[in-house]
Amino acid sequence: MITSVNRFILLFAWTAAAAAIAQTPPPATPEYGDEFYRPHSGQAGKNVVWVPTPDELVQKMLRSAKVTEKDVVYDLGAGDGKIPIAAARDFKARAIGIEYNPEMAELARRNAKRAGVDDRVKIITGDIFESDFSEATVVTLYLLPDLNYKLRPTILKMKPGTRVVSHQFNMRDWEADETYTEGYRDAYLWIVPAQAAGRWTFKEEKGEWLGTADLSQVFQRVGGYLTVGNKSQPLLAPTLTGDQLAFSFVDPDGQARSIRGKINGDNFEGWLRLSTYDTKVTGTRTALPK
Ligand SMILES: C[S@@+](CC[C@H](N)C(=O)[O-])C[C@H]1O[C@@H](n2cnc3c(N)ncnc32)[C@H](O)[C@@H]1O
Repeated sequence: MITSVNRFILLFAWTAAAAAIAQTPPPATPEYGDEFYRPHSGQAGKNVVWVPTPDELVQKMLRSAKVTEKDVVYDLGAGDGKIPIAAARDFKARAIGIEYNPEMAELARRNAKRAGVDDRVKIITGDIFESDFSEATVVTLYLLPDLNYKLRPTILKMKPGTRVVSHQFNMRDWEADETYTEGYRDAYLWIVPAQAAGRWTFKEEKGEWLGTADLSQVFQRVGGYLTVGNKSQPLLAPTLTGDQLAFSFVDPDGQARSIRGKINGDNFEGWLRLSTYDTKVTGTRTALPK
């Protein structure tokens, strides 16, 4: 039974509590919210758990991708936002994180604000497999082998030259352009290659040189034959880095030559080199690979 004394004590306690709450300052600091959401490493996520990439490796990954202020960096599965934040804070890039877990995405937004980069970091709450990240010039991943493989066709359709960095997991038979370690952790860098395969006709712009190259391609690896006049020969040391194609060959007169330049769809613009002398060369893809 509540006596009048007990009633007085209860009323006093409630009034004191209400007064204390009224005096609590409004949660104006950016830290507000962290007391309600503290993620733990290894916690469940939609397709992969949350484990943050260590700071040193974040820096190394962004350095390997040569991130600058001209880049748009997308971190797929952004967690607490540390990769987009580092890309904006330390490399001056514009950076976007896609994170499925709404509470984690909110935390990433608060972290970006705390770091003073919320004008250049955007955190999207969404599923990486349903989001459009085609504007990215750099993509960062810390997912799982099967998820990398599932993203691979989308990544290979991105603009040639887009850099992709993955913490820990590779892309199966698409070999990395660079592999490195930080402590016991591996990381990989790929550069999305242009579509180079097919038959190309190269022509010196202000001269008579004309050659036809039949190029085959597996990801960034290219090979093939060049026909000049009635002589065919294997391309020497061909390379494809993003949209940059280069190879050497020997002209019918026995002179070493090379072609290097940029693929843009079915067109090529570059330079034909003889010794130290360069002349402009253009190319057109006249047939796709069989
Ligand atoms: C291993 S953590 C990496 C976090 C951050 N990228 C880093 O390296 O520090 C993977 C993150 O992906 C998120 N994730 C899992 N599946 C996802 C999906 N389908 N779409 C978006 N985010 C996802 C998880 O919630 C988790 O935060």
